[in-house]
Amino acid sequence: LTPQLLKDQVVVVTAGGTTEPLDPVRFIGNRSSGKMGYAVAQVAAMLGAKVILISTRPELAVPAQLERVIYVQTAAELQGAVQAVYDQANIVVMAAAVADFKPVQYAPQKIKKQVNQTDFQLNLTKNPDILAALGQQKTTQFLVGFAAETNDLLSNAQVKLAAKQVDLLVANDVSQTDRGFNADDNEVTLLWADGTTEKLPLTTKVTIATQILTRIAQVQK
Ligand code: PMT
Repeated sequence: LTPQLLKDQVVVVTAGGTTEPLDPVRFIGNRSSGKMGYAVAQVAAMLGAKVILISTRPELAVPAQLERVIYVQTAAELQGAVQAVYDQANIVVMAAAVADFKPVQYAPQKIKKQVNQTDFQLNLTKNPDILAALGQQKTTQFLVGFAAETNDLLSNAQVKLAAKQVDLLVANDVSQTDRGFNADDNEVTLLWADGTTEKLPLTTKVTIATQILTRIAQVQK
């Protein structure tokens, strides 16, 4: 590790899964543990960057030497937090798993089941695509997205690379238990905006984060 590799760079990292409340006791969520994003934040700080971590996981230990940690729950809160620091960011890494849809209405009291009720319709509405909006507003930031896929990893990731106007898309398979969601390890394919791809074999998320950030530092020079 080169300690000064990201010196003076402001790195914004999002980590964890957003939750969308339905009533005071229920929410729509996903299986993101925050480990991948925290690994990126930890390594970026070790490389000398000023790291702003936007996290849905207040129970996780904060890596050493972070500039700031902002806790959020919903996609709307995550968007507000990342937009507020986007202007000052040099590198933005969207490792968070963002809910694509949220309940149309929040019930302020716990939703009760009725006697004899056998089914329940839940109406959802689309959340904003935070990363795509960052892609449209991009000026000098180096923008990194992740793609979480259970099938057709590379073709699905290619679509996201173009649609979200990112500089680098990190594609990972989330259909297996030894990588992706909640595992300590990951295996990813890097898809760069210029069309080149590179597979990073299964290793710890900290090593994956090191490989990603080292490559970004090289292309930024
Ligand atoms: O947290 P871990 O347990 O360690 O797991 C890591 C991870 C699997 C969550 C991580 O490696 C990962 O893949 N993160 C992205 C999850 C995701 O939301 O993927 P997606 O393919 O649905 O979205 C693509 C990209 O768009 C992501 O960068 C996402 O942050 C972003 N997005 C998605 C939807 C939305 N409404 N707004 C967004 O900004």
